Amino acid sequence: MSSSHDLTGRVAVITGASSGIGEHTAIALAARGAAVALIARRAHRLAALAERIRRAGGRAAPFATDVTDAAALDATAAQVRDALGPAGIVFNNAGVMLPTPVTGADAAPWERQVDLNIRGLNHTVRAFVPQLVEAAAAQGVADLVNTASIAARTLFPTFSVYAASKAYATHFGNTLRAELGPRNVRVTTLEPGIVDTELQGHIADDRVRERLQGTRQTVEWLQPEDIAELVCFVACQPARVNLAQIAVLPTRQAA
Ligand SMILES: NC(=O)c1ccc[n+]([C@@H]2O[C@H](COP(=O)([O-])OP(=O)(O)OC[C@H]3O[C@@H](n4cnc5c(N)ncnc54)[C@H](OP(=O)(O)O)[C@@H]3O)[C@@H](O)[C@H]2O)c1
Repeated sequence: MSSSHDLTGRVAVITGASSGIGEHTAIALAARGAAVALIARRAHRLAALAERIRRAGGRAAPFATDVTDAAALDATAAQVRDALGPAGIVFNNAGVMLPTPVTGADAAPWERQVDLNIRGLNHTVRAFVPQLVEAAAAQGVADLVNTASIAARTLFPTFSVYAASKAYATHFGNTLRAELGPRNVRVTTLEPGIVDTELQGHIADDRVRERLQGTRQTVEWLQPEDIAELVCFVACQPARVNLAQIAVLPTRQAA
């Protein structure tokens, strides 16, 4: 089993690895010695990231996959196991945030958030839990880390579907913890406040996007590296320690 800051010998799967929090977490986990399996849809971004990690002396493999496609993800899980061994860290992180005013809301952004933030989260758990259990049996511990959001427990107008999807992630993780803990699989829910990534760029509603960008005048947003360090901290704890739920906010963000 790895020492306190060393993840050598562990295999980490990162969904949403092509940008933002996932990309930086892949880099940070690889820098501590984990072999990283990179999952997202943009194959060229994953290939470039894998190359960057390899050039830095790490071990990485890209697996371009849409996590809303359960069958494709199952096939990817088998390929990851063949290429790197059973996943002992799964960072279940792919997500999308599409706030829209409820009046006159188009159904498509609501559906997309449910498809990715809830169904994709489920598919990832189902595809990789057998490997986490296998890795925990072999190495003493394994980690499932789900990215929820502080939106899971605060009320932001126009964020209803996103917030509800993240509340799902939080409660799903807490309940899974009760089931997987006895098998030495730790489950952690991350609840970040605002982080400077591509996430905000997908917001179609101009007023919502501008309101969010306006917070930069009073709040220094978190950087994705900040969250990456937390994921490493979680995975590097002694096997008896499960950080179950972590809210991490910019210092000047009230809620
Ligand atoms: N940024 C924030 O303020 C913040 C705060 C709290 C929580 N979060 C959560 O943090 C997580 C990561 O977001 P981020 O901030 O890093 O944003 P980001 O830069 O937009 O990253 C989202 C990632 O999800 C991937 N993705 C999107 N659809 C996918 C699909 N169908 N299949 C596979 N991968 C898919 C994207 O890659 P492709 O487009 O290449 O597929 C991308 O790598 C999300 O769950 C988000 O809700 C973010």
